[in-house]
Amino acid sequence: YLLGIDLGTSGTKTVLFDQNGKGICSATVEYPMYQPQNGWAEQDPKDWYNAAVSTIRTVLEKSGVDKEDVVSMGISGQMHGLVMLDEKDEVIRPSIIWCDQRTAKECEEITAKVGYDNLIRITANPALPGFTLSKLIWVRNHEPENYAKCKHVLLPKDYVRFMLTGDFATEVSDASGMQMLDVPNRCWSDELLGILDIDKSMLAKVYESCEVTGHISAKAAELTGLSEKTLVVGGAGDNAAAAVGTGVVEDGKAFTTIGTSGVVFAHTDKLAIDPKGRVHTFCCAVPGAWHVMGVTQAAGLSLKWFRDNFCGAEKITAEAMGVDTYELTNQEAAQSPIGANKLIYAPYLMGERTPHLDSDCRGIFFGLSAMHQRRDLLRAVMEGVTYSLNDCLGVLAGMGVAPETMLACGGGGKSPLWRQMLADVMNCPVATTINTEGPALGVAILAGVGAGLYGSVQEACRAMIKVNPAQNPIAENVPKYAKVYEVFKKLYTANKELYK
Ligand code: XUL
Repeated sequence: YLLGIDLGTSGTKTVLFDQNGKGICSATVEYPMYQPQNGWAEQDPKDWYNAAVSTIRTVLEKSGVDKEDVVSMGISGQMHGLVMLDEKDEVIRPSIIWCDQRTAKECEEITAKVGYDNLIRITANPALPGFTLSKLIWVRNHEPENYAKCKHVLLPKDYVRFMLTGDFATEVSDASGMQMLDVPNRCWSDELLGILDIDKSMLAKVYESCEVTGHISAKAAELTGLSEKTLVVGGAGDNAAAAVGTGVVEDGKAFTTIGTSGVVFAHTDKLAIDPKGRVHTFCCAVPGAWHVMGVTQAAGLSLKWFRDNFCGAEKITAEAMGVDTYELTNQEAAQSPIGANKLIYAPYLMGERTPHLDSDCRGIFFGLSAMHQRRDLLRAVMEGVTYSLNDCLGVLAGMGVAPETMLACGGGGKSPLWRQMLADVMNCPVATTINTEGPALGVAILAGVGAGLYGSVQEACRAMIKVNPAQNPIAENVPKYAKVYEVFKKLYTANKELYK
């Protein structure tokens, strides 16, 4: 058996797979995200670790699988979060996570010191508030006492790995999002660390995603119920992991995911960089290859925000009926026509990355009328997120890495309505994989490769991933959405200055 842990923003999900990639048993534990100020986002690393321990314990108990048969495991993590440990390996402050937008000034500082062209040459990306480097420099600028105590800087999943194994390790895909990695050469950049005066000894050892980084420690074995023999592989950032879990491991393949954030992700065997930095180029989980991805900050988060604030009664009803609230919100949204009766939503609740790179902008409902009902607002939210993902696809197409078919995953990818919207807006067939565990399956596959069950990531994907027939664009819907998309694109430009 192989174990995949998906450390997300809303919760951690652990899935036990057999070696053919069939999910045997899964468990999820949710935890909060704290927003101490507008645009800030923090989480408690202890919550992640506790969630990992309890979900591992639950799947082992529920499945009845013998711990000695769990050969290997991997962790997929929300990217970019900053975890700082002191000399006693204690967490120094809450983690500043990926969607936190407080570091615009630090990004200017990084760009001024390193130089834009050097940043692109070394890290393949411009300085962005999402990335770990600006968060680390923010702590140095604003909390020097915390910075002085810091002995180790880890990413969310690498903190959980450390707690499970005792090893300070990371891997290329997630490390790319720290902005301290030399992305073309897949190692820490001495040049960049030197310019910014960051001590390399704080950083973990870098592995390829399918390499074994250690095994479960005696203490973690006792807490989780796992065997000390269980291997732990590098794992991957959540998007690189989802790519493996959907078989996006060779040129011409791409997926889009609607989780808390939304992503359009394409594999590339050759390094490809957008000189304007609107999409990220990171190492992918396939040794020697990269990926290019556009990010919508608040994708599923937009729907969750709407549900949590305006669908309270439905949430209670859904829970009582034992159904997912999103099934009810989907049914309601489906009652509104394409274009949501001329209501457009721009999903900038947490600023936006692709294509605007603007941490100041915020969400918009445009065109509200007294005739609108909640169903229109719900549909507008889903459509707005889809337009934003289409913005990402537009940039990828301009770089020559647009796919012929899109795989959909994440919570939003489970909705047939949302998938049809994606197909119609992107004018591209949208398929799903039979196993929808995306990132958890992806890291379980990497675990299988690390344990020697498969010769390569591609070989493992061919054996373990099966794809459902695609949903094709509906010809009459395509121009209808295209018309609304033209207005959507103008909303940001028209309001850009007003956010400042
Ligand atoms: C990617 C990113 C998000 C997080 C969400 O750059 O910030 O996709 O990884 O979990």
